[in-house]
Amino acid sequence: MDLIRRMKLLTDLSSLTQWTASCRAAGGEIGFVPTMGALHLGHMALIHAARKACAHVVASIFVNPTQFGPNEDFARYPRTLDQDRQLLAEAGCDALFVPEAGEIYPVGFQTSIHIELGNSLCGRMRPGHFDGVAVVVTILLNRVRPDVAFFGLKDYQQFLLIRRLVGDLAMPVRVVGIPTVREADGLAMSSRNRYLTADERQRAGFLYQALMAARQAYRQGERDVQVLEALSRRILESGGVDGVEYIELRDAQTLEPVVVCRDNNAPVMLVAARVGGTRLIDNMVLSIVD
Ligand code: PAF
Repeated sequence: MDLIRRMKLLTDLSSLTQWTASCRAAGGEIGFVPTMGALHLGHMALIHAARKACAHVVASIFVNPTQFGPNEDFARYPRTLDQDRQLLAEAGCDALFVPEAGEIYPVGFQTSIHIELGNSLCGRMRPGHFDGVAVVVTILLNRVRPDVAFFGLKDYQQFLLIRRLVGDLAMPVRVVGIPTVREADGLAMSSRNRYLTADERQRAGFLYQALMAARQAYRQGERDVQVLEALSRRILESGGVDGVEYIELRDAQTLEPVVVCRDNNAPVMLVAARVGGTRLIDNMVLSIVD
């Protein structure tokens, strides 16, 4: 409990502004970890990285309505503020910003941001999703004004898109990607894993198996894009993951489809699949060495 009290809870913009001003006055960089809550060890890795790199660490929890489609899980997205506060405090976070929707999107709000990188893959399956991510991340970065912002590489397309956004709009912040944290069977940690039943949870492990199989084949010399994609798809299907939205090999920087694999340009295999009613995503760069 004491730990929780030591972490500042900032529920409005004026308390956030005061807190950041006091950090600036004290000196040292501000590290920022934006989240939607329902925190897990993947988020904690972001806090630990921020803690290591920056004098001051602030996280935010805001379940952003504009990045959910009309038939998606906005209403039932897990909201676990008390547990989240405990985890953040234990991980050494200094402050937590939990804004009301009206602070982020005041009455009359009408701006949107569209980034081409968001047209494919998840953006194709979830129209408008990345516009919502881009706008909320821009608002949060403008409000917090961190020196460094940390994002998980599990959301690989989101990471590239935010890096593009920050670069294109000349926002004065460094964007850092943190490797995916996995369960014992390789399943990427995600707030949505808690939707899975025991049977679905077991099947969900095949996303990782599918990616690992492609990486192993790549390391053994396979360079045919269609063979690698078909191999991963077969493993998903053999594991009972039948709701595959995409499993595609893409350029790891541009996300353009890969025509020919080149050794000096390791591609990334990206997957999105429904297991039961839950949509899961994962990815793996097919590097030659770890
Ligand atoms: O990755 C997330 O949790 C969200 O998309 C983000 C970046 C916090 C924006 O709402």
